[in-house]
Amino acid sequence: MLPFASCLPGSLLLWALLLLLLGAASPQDSEEPDSYTECTDGYEWDPDSQHCRDVNECLTIPEACKGEMKCINHYGGYLCLPRSAAVINDLHGEGPPPPVPPAQHPNPCPPGYEPDDQESCVDVDECAQALHDCRPSQECHNLPGSYQCTCPDGYRKIGPECVDIDECRYRYCQHRCVNLPGSFRCQCEPGFQLGPNNRSCVDVNECDMGAPCEQRCFNSYGTFLCRCHQGYELHRDGFSCSDIDECSYSSYLCQYRCVNEPGRFSCHCPQGYQLLATRLCQDIDECESGAHQCSEAQTCVNFYGGYRCVDTNRCVEPYVQVSDNRCLCPASNPLCREQPSSIVHRYMSITSERSVPADVFQIQATSVYPGAYNAFQIRAGNSQGDFYIRQINNVSAMLVLARPVTGPREYVLDLEMVTMNSLMSYRASSVLRLTVFVGAYTF
Ligand SMILES: *[C@@H]1O[C@H](CO)[C@@H](O)[C@H](O)[C@H]1NC(C)=O
Ligand SMILES: *[C@@H]1O[C@H](CO)[C@@H](O)[C@H](O)[C@H]1NC(C)=O
Repeated sequence: MLPFASCLPGSLLLWALLLLLLGAASPQDSEEPDSYTECTDGYEWDPDSQHCRDVNECLTIPEACKGEMKCINHYGGYLCLPRSAAVINDLHGEGPPPPVPPAQHPNPCPPGYEPDDQESCVDVDECAQALHDCRPSQECHNLPGSYQCTCPDGYRKIGPECVDIDECRYRYCQHRCVNLPGSFRCQCEPGFQLGPNNRSCVDVNECDMGAPCEQRCFNSYGTFLCRCHQGYELHRDGFSCSDIDECSYSSYLCQYRCVNEPGRFSCHCPQGYQLLATRLCQDIDECESGAHQCSEAQTCVNFYGGYRCVDTNRCVEPYVQVSDNRCLCPASNPLCREQPSSIVHRYMSITSERSVPADVFQIQATSVYPGAYNAFQIRAGNSQGDFYIRQINNVSAMLVLARPVTGPREYVLDLEMVTMNSLMSYRASSVLRLTVFVGAYTF
């Protein structure tokens, strides 16, 4: 506050009062309360501008000035002046001030004013002329007839000095707060970013922001997870995916051959087989499917893993063909006397490595004579004893595989049935020529 040298006539007491008033209400001399949104006396918080705003006491206080005084609003307070006093640079824009009458005094103006060339009083800019006593930490604001020392935004007065407000004490930030001179900044934990209000933290969708997941990305609160497609596994790094070699897990995935592929595996079958239900191999019946190359004069015989074309007429002298697979030796032919009266051709196929003993073929007498007895034996083709005959009864017998055999190989077995009638000393022989194809595989 500037001392003043003179005053309008008869107003010495008034100016003293005024000084007292200004002094009491000045923000320079009172500490700001310890709250961010409270203001010193004479100011009120303006939420729009986030600043303290001067209160016009002349409007808000009834009879702010008594008697013949007029009220002049002022930053942080108000003035009561005699109605005759000249008001220069009126704060409320009530028009140009009336000229101050010339005086004999060196400075006939009120404090804070000085006469100009036209002898009217003009405001002294105390801030520009270094006529103020604001601290270096304070900002000087010129006022009509006065000046004001205020703290910059983000500072508050403690004693005579302006001190940075630690806004972080007020929990303005959702995650972390960094106090700065005159302000503050909010920061967020990793995986979050500042919201539009610069205070709250919102989850970052890393999946949309180029997260380094090789295959699939799942955003979650504050972080993200990488996942892999089926058939892949997540690498140790958490981002990349590598193919799972399903074939190495189990040898039972495929009956024949497992082939690993990116993200999956597939089963393969050997030639002559087709895949059945993803893992099993099934023999292709080329004779049935028509995929064979047999001629008109041939019969197609399917076996495990392939097929064979055999001549439909397989009878050799002295045998004559009587049907597709049956050759007869006519009794009238002397050459037939010591030969089986008939040869029937049959074909069958077994897989490799069958557990033994295994019944593989049943022989049945087609005609039964009263009082006759049938005996069955392997007449040829079993030099290594891989098969034997188990007689079931008088009219049937079973061909039994005695040893596990590994294909591909084939046997041609002559299974002889001898029919005897002791009463009539009758003996007859017929042969079933059985070709056994052993496939290369166990399926
Ligand atoms: C948030 O901060 C940015 C950058 O500092 C600024 O441009 C923006 O106006 C601020 N928003 C709010 C609501 O304060
Ligand atoms: C063999 O079976 C037939 C028909 O059942 C029968 O007539 C015959 O007597 C049997 N022979 C012997 C030796 O059991």
